[in-house]
Amino acid sequence: MIDGIDGLENIVAAETVLSEVDGQAGRLVIRGHAVEELAGRATYEEAARLLLEGFFDDLPADLQPAIGAARAEVFAHVAALDDTLAALTPMEAMRALTARLADGDDLATAIRLIAAPSVFTAAVVRRQAGEAPLAPDPALSHAADSLRMLRGAPAPAAEVKAFETYLVTVIDHGLNASTFTARVIASTRAGLTSAVLGGISALKGPLHGGAPGPVIEMLDGIGAPDNARPWIEAALDRGDRLMGFGHRVYKVRDPRADALKRAVRKLSDGSNELPGRLAFAEAVEQAALAILKDRKPNRSLQTNVEFYTALLLEALAFPPSAFTCVFAIGRVTGWIAHAREQIAGGRLIRPQSRYVGPRPKRAA
Ligand code: ACO
Repeated sequence: MIDGIDGLENIVAAETVLSEVDGQAGRLVIRGHAVEELAGRATYEEAARLLLEGFFDDLPADLQPAIGAARAEVFAHVAALDDTLAALTPMEAMRALTARLADGDDLATAIRLIAAPSVFTAAVVRRQAGEAPLAPDPALSHAADSLRMLRGAPAPAAEVKAFETYLVTVIDHGLNASTFTARVIASTRAGLTSAVLGGISALKGPLHGGAPGPVIEMLDGIGAPDNARPWIEAALDRGDRLMGFGHRVYKVRDPRADALKRAVRKLSDGSNELPGRLAFAEAVEQAALAILKDRKPNRSLQTNVEFYTALLLEALAFPPSAFTCVFAIGRVTGWIAHAREQIAGGRLIRPQSRYVGPRPKRAA
């Protein structure tokens, strides 16, 4: 492997005004705002506007009506959710429905794409649970309607707030694998739908956005705090990775992990099972961090965003099979903003490879 480019680690491949990940300090800045501060006060629509500002001439001051109307518009595609699509994983089915949307670079395409993962995820989850998909309510906020469409009833305000915190926390994160994919596709001028479909496909992998479902499997497999150490040791002995730990850029704790842990804590009101679940997860987290430190003393393997994402999305009643789709509901705006930034200022992304295969034999 060529020194210095394995996994493109530390290679700067784009300039962006959208977000900065400081892996040494454990800080994430989203267009001038610390993530903890933005996630605590902005609605998803406000955070989306912040990212899209300057990338569309006709961006409205308030995105909520446009995104609400787009949810209603894209719901027409749910009619295509047949038995074949419903038999796929939620991420595959959501991606297939999104692929029905026309490509384009304009604001209308962008807004439809922001609306789509929410509408399609809820429809797929309900259909797989044997329930009819629920039409969007364009008057609601994106967070509130996403939960309502999934559950079939309005969610309590505290849960909407917690979900909004999640969506804003994950809206953008530098040049992560799915965002880089979206930028590569956008650089060919293929269109925003193509860029988003690439983003969804890259996000799906367990080393990226596919981790939180397996976090629940790990917690359920461990079952009780006393089992944490032997379970984790056995998993690492098998060569498995611990989902929700480690990060390419963060060498200290991922700041999003604590923002989401706080959101879970706020939902724990003493009358539900969350305090116990949270205490158990913290015990597993401590055991995992201690064992990873022991086994990989030269690596700083810390808790990443996916660990507490799993707890929060579980508390909000999303099935683990759909956690990655929910990640896409938040991240889609980041992909679109990066795609527009790439189109506005970037050239075709076309690196080179070094050929190390066999050479043609000389003719005799
Ligand atoms: N569990 C066990 N070992 C780990 C873990 C982990 N979670 N993460 C890294 N390691 C080990 C690797 O085995 C490797 O060990 P080695 O040097 O002895 O071979 C070393 O740490 C470095 O691993 P890399 O894969 O080179 O590290 P990279 O920076 O590429 O990986 C990644 C980052 C993919 C996130 C990794 O930490 C991982 O697989 N984590 C588990 C999956 C996960 O939580 N993904 C979500 C990430 S957050 C997000 O994308 C939104």
